[in-house]
Amino acid sequence: MSDPTPPKVPPDWWQSLFDEVYLQTDARTVQDGDLTRREVDGLIQALKLEPHETILDLCGGHGRHALELARRGYRRVTVLDFSFPLLTLGKAQARESRLPVAFIRGDAACAPLAGDSFQVVMILANSFGYGAAPEDDVAILRECHRVLHPGGRLFLEVADPDYIRRQLSAQSWHEAGDLVVCRQRWLMEEYLFCRELVLSRSGGLVRDRGYKVRLYAAARLGDSLKKAGFTQIEVAGQPDLYAREGDYGALNRRLGATAWK
Ligand SMILES: C[S@@+](CC[C@H](N)C(=O)[O-])C[C@H]1O[C@@H](n2cnc3c(N)ncnc32)[C@H](O)[C@@H]1O
Repeated sequence: MSDPTPPKVPPDWWQSLFDEVYLQTDARTVQDGDLTRREVDGLIQALKLEPHETILDLCGGHGRHALELARRGYRRVTVLDFSFPLLTLGKAQARESRLPVAFIRGDAACAPLAGDSFQVVMILANSFGYGAAPEDDVAILRECHRVLHPGGRLFLEVADPDYIRRQLSAQSWHEAGDLVVCRQRWLMEEYLFCRELVLSRSGGLVRDRGYKVRLYAAARLGDSLKKAGFTQIEVAGQPDLYAREGDYGALNRRLGATAWK
């Protein structure tokens, strides 16, 4: 029987969750090169990406999509993220593989980037909906709009709330090397709350933390994009790209929105 109340989550939880432990707890997604390649295949096709285009991977973490694009000849890709450990890893991988990806640290709600400077902005893999209030999420979309060239396009991927309501288990656990990752989830009106307990076989408790993500159905996502100034908005379910069945949490099923400035 799960606890009826979700954990208290600080509004800035996202500023410290995405670290080396996250890279292990979410390795089945964020360290799976084959999955990333399939995701990038889909992006190139859906967005008709051209190698000469300026592309911003906003909230791009350690740049797994950006690095894969660069490997395929996309030479003008930038990652913006808040997480110092993820950016450090991404930079090291870019250096090692001699890939021309720029990594910038900043808050997506007030990005240290010039206006009208990208042809494409993408926010991938459940990196949206972390704002303390809905306006905080819209502020990020406004930044996407600001940094895009006129005529530029945005691709935004979120968890599919229908799937979460119908099928996501209240509890899950999986092993990741030495770690055992246990998750307890609560669906509360507009949020998915999660408590994540990470245990190391050799070292005991690694962390016990909560986080919450605002859920966006297609209509609500469309409204938020409109508020931020976007037009020609289309939202559609994304293909399931996992090679194996499993509980990948909010990433199990995704919605993708394309929108134009
Ligand atoms: C679930 S991870 C996904 C990362 C990446 N898109 C991927 O697919 O591997 C979410 C990322 O969003 C970043 N993030 C969330 N909110 C942010 C904000 N307001 N500004 C900058 N980065 C943010 C986090 O630091 C984290 O790296």
